[in-house]
Amino acid sequence: MTTDHALAIRNRFRRTRTSPALRGLVRETTLRPEDLIWPIFVRDGDNMEEPIPSMPGVSRLSIDRAVDAARTARSLGISAMCLFPYTDPDLRTETCDEAWNPDNLINRAIRAIKQAVPEVAIMTDVALDPYNANGHDGIVRDGVIVNDETVAALVRMAVAQARAGADIIGPSDMMDGRIGAIRDALESERHTDVSILSYSAKYASAFYGPFRDAVGASGKLVGDKKTYQMDPANSDEALRLVGRDLDEGADMVMVKPGLAYLDICRRVRDTFGVPTFAYQVSGEYAMIEAAAGNGWIDGDQVMMETLQAFKRAGCTGILTYFAPRAAALLAGSAPKAT
Ligand code: PBG
Repeated sequence: MTTDHALAIRNRFRRTRTSPALRGLVRETTLRPEDLIWPIFVRDGDNMEEPIPSMPGVSRLSIDRAVDAARTARSLGISAMCLFPYTDPDLRTETCDEAWNPDNLINRAIRAIKQAVPEVAIMTDVALDPYNANGHDGIVRDGVIVNDETVAALVRMAVAQARAGADIIGPSDMMDGRIGAIRDALESERHTDVSILSYSAKYASAFYGPFRDAVGASGKLVGDKKTYQMDPANSDEALRLVGRDLDEGADMVMVKPGLAYLDICRRVRDTFGVPTFAYQVSGEYAMIEAAAGNGWIDGDQVMMETLQAFKRAGCTGILTYFAPRAAALLAGSAPKAT
């Protein structure tokens, strides 16, 4: 005796899940290689690729290798790369002058990449931590991270990056007033087409641990960043920061870290309707890689699931160390051109 046919359910949600075709037809969000920004770490030297132990699969690249990475990005359809320096420890000082040296590692890398692979947009990081003797994003005086003096330094740094050819300036320092000050300086130098993607809602997070290894700031940081980065308990404040940065001339905004802050991504997108990015940060990457490396999860599937989650939460795009792998996977599943 069967009772299967006895039920007459009108709304069977499983109907539109019966096949890849039906699932594809009703899919609400899509992830594309163009949605990705690929952060890379640059170091001195030639033909160097130095693995970062806390970020399996990620290396510090010499500039020639960074140019190769840009070619890879172009061939995979990745829109942009974001450059972070591993600065020689001897060049890290209390005054952070190396940050606006026109020939520092990052500015040389920008010029090399823009010359060889102009199609890939280059984003920079504006914060003093890779150049600071004490690992902070701002200038430290008597134990205090001083705001206005730091902003003046950040303006010099951003202008040097724009002169080197950066397409997108990414202030990640969380000082007050830096977006307006950088925007005014860019305008007065007629860098009118340089975008600013502000790290507007950047939280004081333990998820940045592996990144600090990558840029060589881990052992250096004195104290923590809680007087300038946001309290993870706050949400309304993120909206005020985004609104403020847009008023000051930001073109795009970011929420960081990513997965633990999807609620913030959604609120920002719904409130402002502006290009909204999430940064899937180093600790998020490391956790997925560690579990996958142990055979505890399927790394590729978890990677794609998390990237999809950002799109579902309203993000325009994602900064992720997975960018080349995700883009290659997406290319593999795309229909062949005929
Ligand atoms: C520097 C900066 C940090 C990250 C991006 N820019 C570290 C920090 O604020 O301590 C973190 C990125 C990551 O963890 O992947 N201001």
